[in-house]
Amino acid sequence: MISIINLILIKLLILLPKSFVKVFANRYVAGETHEEALHIVKKINRKGFSVTLDILGEHTTDKSMASNIASEYLELYDKINNQNLECNISVKPSHIGLDISEEEFLNNIDKISKKADSLNNFLRIDMEDSRATDITINAYKKLRSKTDKVGTVFQAYLFRTFEDIKKIKDLGLNIRLCKGIYKEDSKISLQNRKQINKNYLKILKYSFENDIYVGIATHDSDLISKVYNLINDMNIKNDRFEFQTLYGVPMSYWLNEHLRHNYKVRIYVPFGPEWYDYSIRRLQENPNIASYVLKNIFKK
Ligand code: FDA
Repeated sequence: MISIINLILIKLLILLPKSFVKVFANRYVAGETHEEALHIVKKINRKGFSVTLDILGEHTTDKSMASNIASEYLELYDKINNQNLECNISVKPSHIGLDISEEEFLNNIDKISKKADSLNNFLRIDMEDSRATDITINAYKKLRSKTDKVGTVFQAYLFRTFEDIKKIKDLGLNIRLCKGIYKEDSKISLQNRKQINKNYLKILKYSFENDIYVGIATHDSDLISKVYNLINDMNIKNDRFEFQTLYGVPMSYWLNEHLRHNYKVRIYVPFGPEWYDYSIRRLQENPNIASYVLKNIFKK
């Protein structure tokens, strides 16, 4: 439930000077430039974790801007390759043109996917709100027919997700499974945490049964414990999944556990000059995050 305190926190945050907010954002955002972000990637790699890099931003309305962002992703792949980093890339459809037209998005994502493929790297297409679900899945299907170095994201809170995965399971899938971060209507999505977690586990079990590679993206301790049980019960090999967390969220207990079990971990690292607008929009849309952030400032 969205509390009044969370809403007040967001109002306060917007009133603060940007430089002040940056002090807090630094924990979650890996700087503004490629160099700053790649420096963080190196540090994370040294600790034994993989990374997925994301340039912050969404809802681009200008064609040349969308195309420039796509070009930036191509440059990033080259830099990752030249520096031999264990790092792939995550892209938001609306950042590279979905709000302009489906064609614009498809052109740009195709370029990025070709680059990932040519360098033997990997592209993850992030999942945005439910207006983008069909287009994103269709783009994934199209790209998947050309390369296996591409994956997308499915959200456990949407009623449709189980069937969506079932429909395309034979393509040989690589998915990230998350709960879903956007505010969605109760007509199309689960609203209750217990039910979302139940659906998450149902989808994960189905994915394991059907040899779908899964990026298990959650910070929820109860859920992660249940995922561990499922992995044990089903005797799932550790090359069939990876755990994923957002950069900055304090997960040291689980990160150590994953390493101890020889489970792969990937950290989602966002960066870029758009960090402020992006973070404020996300907070306004999902005020519950405000209390996470505040809680985490005091945690290791
Ligand atoms: P839950 O919301 O129950 O949170 C559990 C605990 O984790 C909280 O109590 C808090 O301590 C901590 N926490 C969670 N989120 C936090 C945050 N942002 N900052 C600080 N602490 C936080 N969604 C989507 O719709 N499309 C996508 O493509 C992606 N991609 C993605 C990648 C990765 C690697 C992750 C980890 C998550 C996503 N998400 C996403 C977001 C996801 O859908 C979900 O909203 C958040 O992960 C929060 O849900 P949890 O599963 O962590 O559980």
